[in-house]
Amino acid sequence: MRPWQVLIPTLCLLALGQACEDATTTESTTKDWWETAQFYQIYPRSFMDSDGDGIGDLNGITSKLDYLKDLGVTAAWLSPIFKSPMVDFGYDISDFFDIQPEYGTMEDFRALIKKAKELDLKIILDFVPNHSSDENEWFKKSVKREKGYEDYYVWHDGKINADTGKREPPSNWLQAFRGSAWEWVEERQQYYLHQFAVQQADLNYRNPDVVEQMKRVLRYWLHEGVAGFRCDAVPVLFEVEVDENGQYPDEAVSGLTDDKDNRNYLKNELIENRPETIDMAYQWRTVMDDHQRIYGGDTRVLLIETYAPPAYTMQFYGNRSVEGAHLPFNFNLITVPASDGVSASSIKKAVDNWLLLMPAGRTPNWVIGNHDQRRAASRYGAGNTDAMNMLVMILPGASVTYQGEELGMTDGWISWDDTQDPAACNSDKDSYEQFTRDPSRTPFHWTSGTNAGFSTGPKTWLPLAEDYETQNVEVETAATRSHLKIYKSLVALRKSSKTLQNGSTKYAVLNENAFVVKRSLSGSPSIVFVANLGSKGITVDLDQFDQTLPTHLTLKIRSISSTKAEGSLFETKGLSLAAGEALVMSTD
Ligand code: NOJ
Ligand code: MG
Repeated sequence: MRPWQVLIPTLCLLALGQACEDATTTESTTKDWWETAQFYQIYPRSFMDSDGDGIGDLNGITSKLDYLKDLGVTAAWLSPIFKSPMVDFGYDISDFFDIQPEYGTMEDFRALIKKAKELDLKIILDFVPNHSSDENEWFKKSVKREKGYEDYYVWHDGKINADTGKREPPSNWLQAFRGSAWEWVEERQQYYLHQFAVQQADLNYRNPDVVEQMKRVLRYWLHEGVAGFRCDAVPVLFEVEVDENGQYPDEAVSGLTDDKDNRNYLKNELIENRPETIDMAYQWRTVMDDHQRIYGGDTRVLLIETYAPPAYTMQFYGNRSVEGAHLPFNFNLITVPASDGVSASSIKKAVDNWLLLMPAGRTPNWVIGNHDQRRAASRYGAGNTDAMNMLVMILPGASVTYQGEELGMTDGWISWDDTQDPAACNSDKDSYEQFTRDPSRTPFHWTSGTNAGFSTGPKTWLPLAEDYETQNVEVETAATRSHLKIYKSLVALRKSSKTLQNGSTKYAVLNENAFVVKRSLSGSPSIVFVANLGSKGITVDLDQFDQTLPTHLTLKIRSISSTKAEGSLFETKGLSLAAGEALVMSTD
């Protein structure tokens, strides 16, 4: 990499104003599987129920692996399937080495892996390193100060208030689901830290036994044949150490909200994004690489969940001397504020903030939804479903789909009485909708029939979303045109196009509402994606964006709203785009 190659993206930003070329992408033709992968997130509780209890399970997933194969996805990552009291729906693990009974057994898990291997699908598990359930044996032993477990969690005596003489929590730190991050345990006469719910106790990463135990978790599931891990809540792994008086310092007030129970009330600089955490991710990478070296097979991947400033997130990739996570998730598109709506300029900013900041030689990735956010079709507008699916599949690198995005599924509405998510249950009837994550966790839509084909039981754990009769696999497979069919064409194009796998990238805001991406590779046809995200029809001049384009482009894939004919030629200089129209075109 020559210094000028790194400079080009920044220079083109300044000089050309709008168009930006990612000159750092190397036109290498040998990509490892994960670099161009189509990842698919399954929320097991809501994907497919095999036994009629209204709760999705492993046998349900196994029965639908053919569907994933048919979609063309490379790897599925499953949200946690481990033994759990389900306070945070599996993100509170009571046994990291066993399966949650309502999801199945170890035998069911092995059958799932076997079937996936037969179909050449990879399975990735959720690794939840920051905390365990308070029902975990480790926690019970730690409460009792059993030998070897005394410091498994972050324990502290708290402070005595000089005025009242009463004991108070060690610091003002707040948990993610409202209220103090400290909980008093009568039996041990100490507080423990929980960055999430009270029942999710933070493991103490300053204890080498904990570090080793969690690497054991990774190795255990690698031996069971998984292709890697999505690592949960990584930026909160380490907190600041106690000061010279043995006290934890308070966080400063952020000024962002007056709500003193809301975690955003504080700056959270002491309990997030610590340097030690980055090193821990590098250590996990070594576990992955060692496993492959010893047992062979394909690369085992690390995907890192990180909502953090880019300067921190990018460090997870590693640097010149050390390998880190294969893919720290890119949440730039997911975090576009819903109030701003998606626009050509917000997309440009999100793309710039990954491609221009990513260390050289690493692989980008694109995420538009997950089980913690409102569904993409609701956040970006149902009319932008195809445009957003096109965007994340045409941009370079790996792409991630949250279950239902291929169907254009929208948020379910959940009453206060039906609310399940602790983030909402810790608030009240009037405000829970601000906090709830239930709307994106409603059951997957397989058919227009009872329970959308998800369950044969009398009741599902969350009610169905209203649009299940139209946005489902059965209807969208039978339709001549559908979001599902467009999604499948996109995945197929990614697989067959050398340009999409290896080409360089140029993109720009064409006018207020239109965004364009061009991928090119010498010796292969270029691919152009253009979308009108606005509510009015427009005509764009792609020649102004890129004068090397031919006079006409062939239409390959069009959004459901488009009336243009696939296979026809369209003029580069005067391309008309209806409101919400999105196109993928080619120079061949
Ligand atoms: C992030 C997960 O995605 C979320 O669902 C969970 O509540 C927290 N981490 C805590 O594990
Ligand atoms: Mg079930």
